[in-house]
Amino acid sequence: MSRIDYQPANAKLNGAYFTPDAVVRSLVSWAVQDETDLMLDPSCGDGRFLAGHVNSVGVEQDPASASVAKARAAGALVHEGDFFRWAANTELRFDCAAGNPPFIRYQLFKGETRAAAQALCRRSGAQFSGLASSWAPFLVAAGSLVKPGGRMAFVVPAEIGHAPYAAPLLEWLASQFAHVQLIAVRDKLFPELSEDCWLLYAEGRGESTHHLSLTRLSNFSASNAPPKVDVEVPLEEWRETWNRRLRPFLLSPDQRQIYLDATMAEGSRRLSDIATAGIGYVSGANNFFHLRPSEAKAWGIPRTVLTPAIRNARSLPSAALKVSDLRRMERDDAPMLLLNLRNQDKLPASVRRYLDSTAGKQARTGFKCRNRAQWYAVPDVRIPDYFLAYMSGRSVALVENEAKATCTNSLHAVTLHREADRPALAAAHASKFFQLSCELEGHPLGGGMLKLEPREAARIVIPTPERIAALDDELIGDAISELQRWRHYAD
Ligand SMILES: C[S@@+](CC[C@H](N)C(=O)[O-])C[C@H]1O[C@@H](n2cnc3c(N)ncnc32)[C@H](O)[C@@H]1O
Repeated sequence: MSRIDYQPANAKLNGAYFTPDAVVRSLVSWAVQDETDLMLDPSCGDGRFLAGHVNSVGVEQDPASASVAKARAAGALVHEGDFFRWAANTELRFDCAAGNPPFIRYQLFKGETRAAAQALCRRSGAQFSGLASSWAPFLVAAGSLVKPGGRMAFVVPAEIGHAPYAAPLLEWLASQFAHVQLIAVRDKLFPELSEDCWLLYAEGRGESTHHLSLTRLSNFSASNAPPKVDVEVPLEEWRETWNRRLRPFLLSPDQRQIYLDATMAEGSRRLSDIATAGIGYVSGANNFFHLRPSEAKAWGIPRTVLTPAIRNARSLPSAALKVSDLRRMERDDAPMLLLNLRNQDKLPASVRRYLDSTAGKQARTGFKCRNRAQWYAVPDVRIPDYFLAYMSGRSVALVENEAKATCTNSLHAVTLHREADRPALAAAHASKFFQLSCELEGHPLGGGMLKLEPREAARIVIPTPERIAALDDELIGDAISELQRWRHYAD
């Protein structure tokens, strides 16, 4: 069967996206240094890595893929089954390992396979939380089967550059290999996937390093050795200064330094020092809990239990949300009135009728509604000082809440600790530096978007207005454009 003909079933569920030939050849030709070397591919799919080197062993849990691998790589040994359970029992050790591990997110990477993965990684000295996607433990388990002096070469998700769960993997690699190099590739290695991929090369198993080496490429070109290193990232700097992220090293040293200087400057604070930022409420049944003004009127629901709500960043004006903006939304009869029944002792008869409507009977069966004391009382409804976009395109909006509306979980609700910090936040937000901080503390989501998780929003840097005025806006603008190019917003 030709490679083109073969498509595994449930590709997404099993993290089964097969690697382009040129990438396979490059990784195998570097990993294998002698024809007698024994190579491991822990998730061999249809056997394309194995086919590049006869003396190899592959593991694959999908029976159909495993049988294609057996036919394609006739000289190799292919085990059908779960790699982690196989790895826990095998006595084999390898001169090298190469491949492309499955990218299965933690929600689906569960049960016995995850338990086996975590136990194996713990024994090897790497601690992953329950939030790790499958590929990171895969690489620890594969690397732990590599002999002293051996090498590994793998395709990795670009999340290795920012995801918290990737940090234990990088720590482990640096403690186990003399040289660890990441190749960040800007153009997609897998054009059909929204995720970007990088490459990982590690050599000298049994030794350790104090650096991670990074190479930035705009596109991949085949070669039998990793490209020249651009930046040596000291582990200590990666840990202490950059929150265990490699993404900042996609920038030039000047660009990184300007960010660092402003972050360290006297008077600079993080957003969490001056405000709380948490996502807005989760209603559990958006269509039911958000009424149009015409619907509220028809049901006779009093204004006292209706709170104007912003449901996504698109509905926000650019500067401040004013009462006139809410009036316009009301005139447009937008579904923007949240039925806010928290702390209501006695429900008005009209509200009772609405709750007992067909839509209400349907809404209360949903997961969120079923699992709260009063199914109709939406928790965490706050009136914040600002709304901060959770997912953004070009730039991240921070919008003052003059109209005293609330917001759903598609926005962060930002509330100042002290009113006196309002001017400092306004000055910071008006600067390009704010956008650079969001780019560096947030992360790319795929499809060009930038996402700010609550823990990331908390880290946004707020320098003093004087410091902001002294910054080199051109350099900062270039840094923002560079990071936007890496997240495919400004290609
Ligand atoms: C990204 S694909 C890579 C396949 C092949 N190495 C390539 O690059 O073309 C990952 C493969 O891992 C397999 N897989 C997923 N979980 C596995 C597990 N626990 N043990 C072994 N293989 C697994 C999937 O079926 C899929 O074929």
